[in-house]
Amino acid sequence: MREIKIFIVIAFFTGALYYGVEPFAHTQLHKHVDAPEYNFKDVDGLKEGLTGNAEAGATLVQSNCIVCHAVSKAGFPPMMDDASSAASYGVVPPDLSCSGHLYDANYLAAFIKNPAKASKTEHKFTDGAVHPMPNYDWMQPQEIADMVAYLQSICPKEMTNKEVFAQACKRCHSIKYGDFHGGTMISQTPEANIKAYMGTIPPDLSQYIRSRSENYLHEFINDPQKHLEGTAMPRVGLTKAAEDQVVAYMQEVGDSKKPERDALGPKFLGYLVIFALFAWLWKSKIWREVH
Ligand code: HEC
Ligand code: HEC
Repeated sequence: MREIKIFIVIAFFTGALYYGVEPFAHTQLHKHVDAPEYNFKDVDGLKEGLTGNAEAGATLVQSNCIVCHAVSKAGFPPMMDDASSAASYGVVPPDLSCSGHLYDANYLAAFIKNPAKASKTEHKFTDGAVHPMPNYDWMQPQEIADMVAYLQSICPKEMTNKEVFAQACKRCHSIKYGDFHGGTMISQTPEANIKAYMGTIPPDLSQYIRSRSENYLHEFINDPQKHLEGTAMPRVGLTKAAEDQVVAYMQEVGDSKKPERDALGPKFLGYLVIFALFAWLWKSKIWREVH
């Protein structure tokens, strides 16, 4: 009985100390930010009630977008190699084949209308500097809806985590540990160009799953300004599913042993419980003989 009382007293003080201090320290070190919002209600996106016509959208995309963007799934290869388009635009414009799959439709519409505003990077484009992609807010809402419908119609239904990451992030970021052989996971845009465009070289993301939490990554991708006010990184308006795939890829690359570690936890706790039981039985036996 005495041991149990001692145990309760120790457990109480340890618990009070831990739970009293830890949440407090947490609020001081990590400021609270709102959870990611995947409906992108704040953007000026698709007009309600309009249904896009993919066929009309195809013509519009061909006449407006393929000068800068490849749409390889629809038979439009890039007009320039990566080095030349990086030199022209500061960053290699992404292939649009998968945009309809990756981006939230409402966000995609808003981005087409006004890229800097939708991606929350207007602060970068002052004093005459403009976003390398022109605004299409002069187009009819119906035309915007048509282009979104077209981009959704050509997109593949299934993409691997690596493909999603490559489409959404690799024009700016390397993730070198993703592929040692051949180095295909190196940023598509040469460092000198991206530095001139962004003001800084976007970090290699190989280990970010470890240095930042999964939560942080979701919040950051969905709206970087929440964590790093004034940052040059644009908001990437991914759907929840695509964003989960990006983070899953960063997990595969940066922390491939996590599933193993997670599986080991319950087994280890089970071992401790059984061990404690035996220790207690052994102790009782010895004391029984002493009394
Ligand atoms: C003059 C070149 C140019 C034209 C024309 C252009 N874009 Fe872009 N686009 C870019 C560049 C450059 C980027 C990358 C910008 C960045 O990452 O900061 C981009 C990015 C994008 C993205 C990625 C959005 C994101 O959040 O990552 C989409 C989608 C897109 N463009 C769609 C379109 C569509 C649709 C059209 C035609 C209506 C179009 N673009 C016309 C240059 C262009
Ligand atoms: C148009 C270029 C661009 C794109 C696209 C882009 N990033 Fe970034 N990213 C940056 C830049 C620039 C920084 C450095 C920001 C700074 O230091 O202010 C950055 C920083 C980061 C950081 C570090 C944040 C921190 O806390 O220090 C993470 C994590 C990140 N990006 C993840 C992503 C992921 C994941 C994607 C794809 C979904 C992505 N980025 C797409 C340009 C980009």
